[in-house]
Amino acid sequence: MTQAQASDLRVRLARPSELEWINARYAEIRFLPSTAADLIAIAEIGDQRAGIGRVVPIDASTGELGGMYVLPAFRGQGIAKAIVGFLVEYTDRTLLYCVPFASKSAIYEGLGFGRVENACAIPAKIREKLDWCGRTHEEPVRLLEMRTR
Ligand SMILES: CC(C)(COP(=O)(O)OP(=O)(O)OC[C@H]1O[C@@H](n2cnc3c(N)ncnc32)[C@H](O)[C@@H]1OP(=O)(O)O)[C@@H](O)C(=O)NCCC(=O)NCCS
Repeated sequence: MTQAQASDLRVRLARPSELEWINARYAEIRFLPSTAADLIAIAEIGDQRAGIGRVVPIDASTGELGGMYVLPAFRGQGIAKAIVGFLVEYTDRTLLYCVPFASKSAIYEGLGFGRVENACAIPAKIREKLDWCGRTHEEPVRLLEMRTR
């Protein structure tokens, strides 16, 4: 895949009928499944699905941006960046948390996320996510946040 082919890149909302395909991808990488409540973006190159990402609702003003997964053949050409940009633009949540693997935290920090200074104030659902990550994945995670507007 060359950079030129990435010019075919399109990011769109997932259709409800795609939830099964999405959760099959998340199962492959031991990510939690999505539900119909999530805002899910799909990146396509031509007619091929190339990557996914989501905002999981926490409450009326807060969400968790995550679930970033770019299929191996399509990596390294800005698709994750495009998905994050789409979700940040599209979400109606004004505060987004993100719990990335430490080695990938720079992707999100480069797109406007910053370190959470006061971890005591984070919602219980985010605390649960941090605990789940610690139990499920060997790699440590970071806790980031971003105001969307
Ligand atoms: C992490 C992942 C989503 C990146 O997707 P991608 O489309 O290749 O990323 P992009 O091409 O949009 O790169 C965005 C930026 O992150 C950097 N980056 C990409 N992959 C990276 C990685 N594995 N580690 C560190 N930085 C990375 C890029 O250099 C780029 O920075 P730049 O704009 O300064 O050049 C993809 O490798 C993946 O799906 N991995 C498996 C699942 C996973 O780990 N998800 C993320 C959990 S936090």
